Amino acid sequence: MERNQNAEDAAGQLRADGASGVNPLAAGVLRRNGLKSWTKPAPSLYPHQWSWDSAFIALGLAHVDNSRATQELETLFASQWSNGKVPHIVFDPEAPPRSYFPDAERWSSSALSEYAPSSPHTSGLCQPPVHAIAVWRIWETSRGQEERRVEASRRFLRANYPRLLSWHRYLMTARDPEGSGLVTIYHPWESGTDNSPRWDGALQGVTVGDLPPYVRRDLQHVSDPSHRPTNGEYDRYLWLLESLKRARYEESDIYRSHPFLVKDVLFSAILVAANEALLNITAVVDASGEDRALIQAWIERGRQGIDGSWDAGLGLALDRDLWRDEPARVRTVAGFAPLISGGLAPEKLQAQLRALDSPHFAGNPDLQWKLPPSTSPGERGFHPRSYWRGPTWPVANWLLWWSLLRAGERDRASTLRAEILAQLAHGGFAEYFEPFTGEPLGSREQSWTAAVALDLIAAGDNAGNGTGQ
Ligand code: SER
Repeated sequence: MERNQNAEDAAGQLRADGASGVNPLAAGVLRRNGLKSWTKPAPSLYPHQWSWDSAFIALGLAHVDNSRATQELETLFASQWSNGKVPHIVFDPEAPPRSYFPDAERWSSSALSEYAPSSPHTSGLCQPPVHAIAVWRIWETSRGQEERRVEASRRFLRANYPRLLSWHRYLMTARDPEGSGLVTIYHPWESGTDNSPRWDGALQGVTVGDLPPYVRRDLQHVSDPSHRPTNGEYDRYLWLLESLKRARYEESDIYRSHPFLVKDVLFSAILVAANEALLNITAVVDASGEDRALIQAWIERGRQGIDGSWDAGLGLALDRDLWRDEPARVRTVAGFAPLISGGLAPEKLQAQLRALDSPHFAGNPDLQWKLPPSTSPGERGFHPRSYWRGPTWPVANWLLWWSLLRAGERDRASTLRAEILAQLAHGGFAEYFEPFTGEPLGSREQSWTAAVALDLIAAGDNAGNGTGQ
């Protein structure tokens, strides 16, 4: 009863305003978190520019203001490293002092690496490459508009294409010297799913040495420390950072000695989907046939890699720890990498859908909304309030929704969309949610949550009219 009422609320509150065509609540979050040319992921917890947050933010802003969406990505890509890497944080020199740790000084990127820009400072890691998907959305939302807007968008695609290509090339080469089709990450922060039990096994192999002292800043911004990773996890995160600094962020040195080297299936799947978007972009910018063939080959290699990560018993794909040379056999939303990378044979698609419907994910009878928890409640490492150990994440659900549409699963996509919007109508635009009670957790005004809401709302009740690729 309550649930139906909430779903009705969702329809009532989270729909596009008749005059502007945009939902004012979601747009308001992005406006309040917005700075000059980019958007903070959250008002105080994340005071700098984060890479994959920005990509999702641009995707949402595309429905509100195309030029603001292009600025968001232009600002991020202005700090791209000369080897193609898009850093996971671009530090705002004007952010309040001591508001975030590790800060620019701790990363020392420009002092250690000739590839890093010196101003503004950046972190030394990267994050999943959602950017080309956002750029394509910017193009899609400009189509059919007045000519001036279409031209501005075309110019943006032309200017941005070489940067996207070099970003993807970096990932397909430096991060996959084996040519496996799978991206190697150097830190759980690169996955974006920081404390997921996906990394517990690999982190066990990380022995923390003589760590320079530090003070966590994240805990001052949440109401309860249990929402965030533990101190033990933070020690390992900071130790890995020191290890990357010792290697001066040099890929070949990292590959030789860094204690955390993991093939990340979710990151790799997002890269496949982003390469599909990049292939679409090649047509708009008249890229060479050579580029097109290269991107096509990247897509095929990526899908093969993800296929090789398949666990038939679980119906999920699994990450692989390169040091221990073994898969991380744990049920998390990352296991839906095959669905996200697309191009699945019918039986694989059905196996993924069965896993999605199972009690490990959206079919769990105790859920407040039929949305997959980030980690299965059946896992030992599950925790319903701790970041990526169990809470439901709207961005992860957006990825599944969008992937279902691309797979032609329109009815399922429509159901998922309604559940996501109902959750947000009930709990606001929080960073993540307790899966059984729907309690909003983490930051309460998270930009990417509002951004994916804008995209879902724009798709309309008939699941994604005109928004799929
Ligand atoms: N997600 C990390 C944090 O919470 C860093 O990217 O600070």
